[in-house]
Amino acid sequence: MTQREHAVSFTGAVKTYGEVRAVDGIDLEIARGETVALLGRNGAGKSTTISLLLGLNVPDEGSVELFAAAPERAVRAGRVGAMLQEARAVPRVTVRELVTFVASRYPAPMPVARALELAGIAELAGRRVDRLSGGQTQRVRFAVALAGDPSLLVLDEPTAALDVEARHAFWDSMRGYADRGHTVLFSTHYLEEADAHADRIVVVDRGRIVADGTGEELRRAAGGNLVSVDLAGHDADGLALLPGVRSVEVRGQRARLRTDDSDATVIALAALGAIRGLEVAPASLDDAFLALTSSHRAPDRTPDIPSDAPSGETPREAETV
Ligand SMILES: Nc1ncnc2c1ncn2[C@@H]1O[C@H](COP(=O)(O)OP(=O)(O)OP(=O)(O)O)[C@@H](O)[C@H]1O
Ligand SMILES: [Mg+2]
Repeated sequence: MTQREHAVSFTGAVKTYGEVRAVDGIDLEIARGETVALLGRNGAGKSTTISLLLGLNVPDEGSVELFAAAPERAVRAGRVGAMLQEARAVPRVTVRELVTFVASRYPAPMPVARALELAGIAELAGRRVDRLSGGQTQRVRFAVALAGDPSLLVLDEPTAALDVEARHAFWDSMRGYADRGHTVLFSTHYLEEADAHADRIVVVDRGRIVADGTGEELRRAAGGNLVSVDLAGHDADGLALLPGVRSVEVRGQRARLRTDDSDATVIALAALGAIRGLEVAPASLDDAFLALTSSHRAPDRTPDIPSDAPSGETPREAETV
């Protein structure tokens, strides 16, 4: 074992379900001690990636290693704690009994009281696990993931059912854990969470990594600024051809232009006489995400976008990332 050994290493990993390439050639290395967010819309391949990482699924092509060995080996050695997305049938035991049982399966677990406290469920210790609310159950699952004091913590949408307060408490615990040198990989739909709590954001779309960097790097990669103007009767045709413009989105009478050179774009708009209600703003992280993922394109560019989205997928709105 070397100092430079990665916690997680995907090499050309592919996992198909019939026609669907759920994971479509992922190369990813996560260093020890890193906190990485896996960000993507519904069906992007986050959970499948996590299942490969945990050895619950085997890649059809390529390979996955944890701590330079097969995932099963790291899992069996108690180096990995996981919180999966799908709900499992929970046994009729108390929270404390469940966490104690899980902890006992690990070579060097943390004290059960500590796991309960970190997950914010100390007061639920004597309650039956099959009689808890959705958010409480989720916190129990977090305690279960922590119980073994694993080197690598893998959390699939850990905050999905949590209320605002529980969410804050969860992130405090997670960061405390990460700050002690542990490696954390969590998936989320929420850009703010990824930006606020991860060292690095890996954006997954249709089974592929489409971006990998800090929030700031993603913003930059997705194109600098947004220029919006009232169309005021003007045609939106041709806006996409203005200097600097990468994409155009028209909503009602307003056009939003993503541009790499807002000065040049504004000057060109002025030359067209189309600068009513002008606004220039830096692209937000949400804008970056939408620019990076393939389902969201400017209307005037749709004809050349292949319609290869798996059928049955609903189109996504900006608000539902
Ligand atoms: N067991 C399975 N059998 C068939 N198809 C599957 C299976 N699991 C996932 N898929 C498909 O693989 C793709 C990726 O699914 P995955 O669950 O990895 O997405 P996700 O990013 O976790 O989505 P979500 O945000 O909704 O949890 C989807 O198109 C999904 O329908
Ligand atoms: Mg999922």
